[in-house]
Amino acid sequence: MEQDAKLYGDLEKILVTKEEIERKVRQLGETITHDYEGKEPAMVCILKGAFLFFADLVREIDLPLTTDFLAVSSYGNATKTKGVVRVLKDLDNDILNKDVILVEDIVDTGITLSYVRSMLLHRGAASIRIATLLDKTSCRQVKDLKVDYVCFDIPDAFVVGYGLDFTQKYRNLPDIGVLSPAVYKTL
Ligand code: IMP
Ligand code: MG
Repeated sequence: MEQDAKLYGDLEKILVTKEEIERKVRQLGETITHDYEGKEPAMVCILKGAFLFFADLVREIDLPLTTDFLAVSSYGNATKTKGVVRVLKDLDNDILNKDVILVEDIVDTGITLSYVRSMLLHRGAASIRIATLLDKTSCRQVKDLKVDYVCFDIPDAFVVGYGLDFTQKYRNLPDIGVLSPAVYKTL
């Protein structure tokens, strides 16, 4: 693995490698292809963090599907959400009677996804499942949030890379790593 000091220097350690991500995303694509046989899932990317995961995942699903993008923000400090969710960019397409798969980068407290899920249920989605790249189960506040597909369970640490950011940076790291606390404690 090539470790560009400019980007990798701010990491405490690498948690998930590019190769491990590729393998899991391929497996998840196969599982979804199997689970949604005969259906046409409406894939929804939660921007921005899930953009790379979404792009890779949809190419591993061997079914007709549609893609749409939803941008939300949850207020909070630099590394923790406070629980107020706002829609920054809504879906372009109607999801009435559609089998929706929400694609998220990471589920932490669960507040963001729980909000998005109930919003889309109110709009009449036939079904909603959640696919996340990372899951911090130990940080969950919304206990009854069902996360259907998880690539990696991770410990409570602030991670960046493969779409995940800190102050909009590090999204282009091919691996997922733990950000050195020194980086955000100086803010
Ligand atoms: P939740 O509402 O607490 O589940 O927060 C989910 C959102 O918080 C994710 O979509 C991310 O945008 C952000 N987030 C939570 N943990 C991390 C992290 O470790 N790195 C980067 N973003 C994170
Ligand atoms: Mg996100």
